[in-house]
Amino acid sequence: MANDVELNIEGKNISFPVVEGTENEKGLVIGKLRGSTGYITLDPGFVNTGSCQSAICFVDGENGVLRYRGYPIEDLAEKATFLEVAQLLLDGELPQAAALKKFNDAVMAASQIPEQIGKLCAAVSPDGHPMAVLSSLVTALSTYREGHMDPNDGAQRQEEVIRLLGQLPTLIAMAFRHTSGRKPVAPRTDLDYTSNFLHMMFADDDGNYDLDPEVAQALNKILILHADHEQNCSTSTVRVVGSSEANLYASVASGICALWGPLHGGANQKVIEMLEQIEASDDDCSKFIEKVKDKESGVRLMGFGHRVYKNFDPRARIIKSACDDALKALGIDDPLLDIANELEQAALNDEYFVQRKLYPNVDFYSGIVYRALGIPTNMFTVLFALGRLPGWMAHWCELNQDPATRISRPRQIYTGHGQRAFVNMDDR
Ligand code: SDX
Repeated sequence: MANDVELNIEGKNISFPVVEGTENEKGLVIGKLRGSTGYITLDPGFVNTGSCQSAICFVDGENGVLRYRGYPIEDLAEKATFLEVAQLLLDGELPQAAALKKFNDAVMAASQIPEQIGKLCAAVSPDGHPMAVLSSLVTALSTYREGHMDPNDGAQRQEEVIRLLGQLPTLIAMAFRHTSGRKPVAPRTDLDYTSNFLHMMFADDDGNYDLDPEVAQALNKILILHADHEQNCSTSTVRVVGSSEANLYASVASGICALWGPLHGGANQKVIEMLEQIEASDDDCSKFIEKVKDKESGVRLMGFGHRVYKNFDPRARIIKSACDDALKALGIDDPLLDIANELEQAALNDEYFVQRKLYPNVDFYSGIVYRALGIPTNMFTVLFALGRLPGWMAHWCELNQDPATRISRPRQIYTGHGQRAFVNMDDR
């Protein structure tokens, strides 16, 4: 335990304990701050504020390090399957072969969804964004699980985690096919998780689909890279909602909505739209870069910058290499990749970006891979949600087992009117 830290507030010395993590991160434990001083902290965006202690994921933003349960993302992306990583995040250890097979079989057996959910999906507008459909359908799944969703019951948590892992790909494929006016295709439990997902997405109405193993492998790697990322906006949202003892479906649906935002998971879609705009113009990227640097423009280089990474996002490096491999294997020459490379080189050599430590993040190249895999642009963020699901659920399970968990209820500094008398309508 590191030494306590003393603060002097209005002439009074108050000491606060310090907590130290396994990677030597230090935090001031300020639980008694308001009670002993009347002060609170104010930290918009929680840039300097830890919400919990967690053993799931470690990110070192200064050195571009990302590990799930201690395993470097580079090793997991290269050597593991997505369900193997999901089990690692949820259970804390890499599964042995028999345990992985049991987990895989349970998840695949859970991939069917209630028939009425299909009717609910068919009832929403096909023109809506699939993230709206996904968050609605995930919440609707809970209507079939009354009596089975006690967050304090370990067996019920495990059962619902398996069910949602199995059903989410089916929901996503069904929502995708609905937007293009096609009927859903039943899951195939004889296929692996990512192959079954591709099958449900792209099979023709008779269930025929020529699965390309390169595509399945690329998707497996991309999903692993998105599986968790400590206390990002959507995972923190899952934790805030889960802290009220809300069930798994409500907590995950909230995470889906948080991920939808263009500053978070929605960035992968915005990156492609940005690249397409540049491609359609006569700009060689220089005009766009100048527009980004002009604060008045309000234009951001989407897919660049990160709250934590002040160095390369390790996932961006891996995705860029997976992008090259996938396009080569599929014989695709995507001009947007050339534009992305030009933008990256221009930004990495421009003082505006260097000074602010803005590097490519996970979203900068992922959209180009999704395009190569035949995924439409408005489905990119949905694919992010599919990848992030095991991380969200691992954090939801962790908080429900942590005795230190309390309902999230931040304070504020009030800046509105002082007390004033009511004014009757005729006197206003
Ligand atoms: C994800 O948190 C996670 O872990 C998220 C994620 C995960 O796996 O869950 O990694 C996934 O969300 C990745 C990020 C995807 N978003 C984008 O690519 C959108 C573009 N990037 C940003 O808008 C921004 O960089 C954020 C939102 C990612 C981070 O915002 P911060 O930490 O609040 O940083 P900031 O907005 O305070 O920026 C600091 C400075 C500002 O300039 P100054 O006021 O100092 O002059 O950098 C500038 C910003 O204007 N800046 C950018 C920029 N990002 C930051 N300028 C141009 N283009 C950008 N992309």
